[in-house]
Amino acid sequence: NWTMENFIEQQVKEIREKVGNRKVLCALSGGVDSSVVAALIHKAIGNQLTCIFVDHGLLRKNEADEVMKVFAEDFHMNVIKVDARERFLSKLKGVDDPEKKRKIIGNEFIYVFDDEAAKLKDIDFLAQGTLYTDVIESGTDTAQTIKSHHNVGGLPEDMQFELIEPLKTLFKDEVRELGTQLGIPDYIVWRQPFPGPGLAIRVLGEVTEEKLAIVRESDWILREEIAAAGLDKEIWQYFTVLPNIRSVGVMGDQRTYDYTIGIRAVTSIDGMTSDWARIPWDVLEKISTRIVNEVPHVNRVVYDITSKPPATIEWE
Ligand code: XMP
Repeated sequence: NWTMENFIEQQVKEIREKVGNRKVLCALSGGVDSSVVAALIHKAIGNQLTCIFVDHGLLRKNEADEVMKVFAEDFHMNVIKVDARERFLSKLKGVDDPEKKRKIIGNEFIYVFDDEAAKLKDIDFLAQGTLYTDVIESGTDTAQTIKSHHNVGGLPEDMQFELIEPLKTLFKDEVRELGTQLGIPDYIVWRQPFPGPGLAIRVLGEVTEEKLAIVRESDWILREEIAAAGLDKEIWQYFTVLPNIRSVGVMGDQRTYDYTIGIRAVTSIDGMTSDWARIPWDVLEKISTRIVNEVPHVNRVVYDITSKPPATIEWE
């Protein structure tokens, strides 16, 4: 009979048999799938697993530290953190087209990963967090295509890894259950979807350090208040965006000319369609007040009340 305990036991056995005394590499993003796959493989083979975590500078506030804390410190995994923030930012300089940004980030991710992987010796396997839905959908929508990109489908031919995909018979809810059983904390297991290109597609137009900071700080406030209101499991995805507009405001007796922040919060089953979340007005008020007070260069907050379709969830 199928139980999660049996599944874990079975997978651990299979992974051990397959790997023997060889080594496995895994790209850890801090998302649910790669976290669970890393924890499962680590359970099976311990420090024969090496994870590479690329900090591309487009992550949410504290995310890189959280990932390192959980996996390197608490799980004692062998995690190599690559600080590639400068590298990504310089590649994105002057680029304002969303699809170009995606492409640059996807490619750069692979280059950075390759550079790190090349430094390691005797790696035979690459672990990937492929799920059952990834197998059956096989890259039809953008998110999936990019995702497969980010799951390092595009490694150069001379890097010959055998794939290990222990989640490929599981659905998302089963992956979460597995994650919980493996001891991964709730905030990772129940993490909302976060796109591979990260905050770069939430800064509309050209990405700069200053704009990333604005969207990162405002997003943090939004997340704090959504959690404080107990809405974090109800709302499927929620984040802030920085549209490329500034408008007039007044602060004290000073006229300001500063940025607008957009709040996007949606309910959805799978991201294919969505509705805007009916966040209580007092919660929205608190979020708005905190953002204009705490985030420099923001003087206006708007709430996106469009469903998908016709709008997409992300603004780019
Ligand atoms: P849209 O904006 O297309 O988003 O309605 C649907 C879901 O896909 C995510 N998304 C992405 N995920 N790379 C990703 O890994 C991407 O380029 C990308 N674009 C959108 C989005 O966050 C939402 O969950």
